[in-house]
Amino acid sequence: MARPPKELCVLVFIPAVMFPWVFFQQESSTRWDKVAARLSGPLAGDDPRVLQVVTDTYLDPPSTLPYNLSTNLRYSTGKDQFTWPWIHHFLQLLFSEQRGGFFVEAGALDGEYLSNTLWLEQELGWTGLLIEADVINYKALRDTHRRAWSSNTCLSSELYPKDTLFVSRFTKIQTNLSPWAARSHGHELRDDVNQSKHDILDDTSYSTVQCLPLVSYLAALTVSSVDLLSLDIQGTEAFVIRNFLTSSNITIRVIVAENEYNQFDDEFMSLMRDKGYVVLAAAIDYVFVRRDDSLMTRPEVQRLLLKTNSSKV
Ligand SMILES: *[C@@H]1O[C@H](CO)[C@@H](O)[C@H](O)[C@H]1NC(C)=O
Ligand SMILES: *[C@@H]1O[C@H](CO)[C@@H](O)[C@H](O)[C@H]1NC(C)=O
Ligand SMILES: *[C@@H]1O[C@H](CO)[C@@H](O)[C@H](O)[C@H]1NC(C)=O
Ligand SMILES: *[C@@H]1O[C@H](CO)[C@@H](O)[C@H](O)[C@H]1NC(C)=O
Repeated sequence: MARPPKELCVLVFIPAVMFPWVFFQQESSTRWDKVAARLSGPLAGDDPRVLQVVTDTYLDPPSTLPYNLSTNLRYSTGKDQFTWPWIHHFLQLLFSEQRGGFFVEAGALDGEYLSNTLWLEQELGWTGLLIEADVINYKALRDTHRRAWSSNTCLSSELYPKDTLFVSRFTKIQTNLSPWAARSHGHELRDDVNQSKHDILDDTSYSTVQCLPLVSYLAALTVSSVDLLSLDIQGTEAFVIRNFLTSSNITIRVIVAENEYNQFDDEFMSLMRDKGYVVLAAAIDYVFVRRDDSLMTRPEVQRLLLKTNSSKV
């Protein structure tokens, strides 16, 4: 059989090499890069390499400087607004006699406006961890000189660290509310949480933010027990709690979490019961307490449970 001329070989060879390249270029170079980078699988939240990065890059230590809190009236009135008084009532009922403790609060916003944990720090000498994804909010948070660790990241809704597209919110229409009210609506961009009700009053901007599972921060800080977890993260609360409780043995005594997007469904509530929690109070926010915690023996707590009959969950 006669061999084809050399020139023909080259002509056949070139398209064969070229086509896969062209194909991947068209397929979407960004997607291929991401897949290639993750073929070995996501890193576990408590993987030593993750903890090293968290320690080196994503944790800022508590301030030792005097507090630099606002004297602006709009901040002090923040404490009469929204669910702050409701939450504060239950936190006082649980913790007013406990000096010292460790909290985790996310989104911590500017560390001051409607903060559920500032009073624990100021009045009861607690410390903790403040997590805030928005870079402008975070800058303000650092300026307050809170006596807590802080991190300019977001809590991962998965069991592993991930990048997410974060939607920052800020005031579009002037109201008599603090500008922090609009800024508190920042959230991870998701299809399964409809955030459009905030579109009327808020403008938006986008950024990529590193998210980490709760266990990553706690393991990096070698925290073995959390007294209070306070979550107001615009729709991913249930994911964060579920993932943490199913993957870690670190005890969280009390969880206060917002349920603005109705994600605390029957399955979630059943998981909370199985993981040993009772509901102390439920409105837009839920207050969960561990059934085996000494807090449960407080007479105020007993009275409340009888009244609300939270033994259901
Ligand atoms: C105190 O906070 C304000 C912002 O509210 C900031 O401009 C100022 O630099 C801060 N002062 C100190 C000493 O950190
Ligand atoms: C999101 O909610 C708004 C009402 O708040 C509704 O008009 C809109 O259709 C919803 N969008 C989706 C995608 O469900
Ligand atoms: C949690 O504790 C149980 C029993 O002590 C153990 O079997 C399990 O591996 C632990 N899980 C984690 C994630 O450490
Ligand atoms: C609480 O509710 C359950 C049913 O959900 C009922 O069986 C029980 O008697 C109630 N307990 C109190 C103290 O009201």
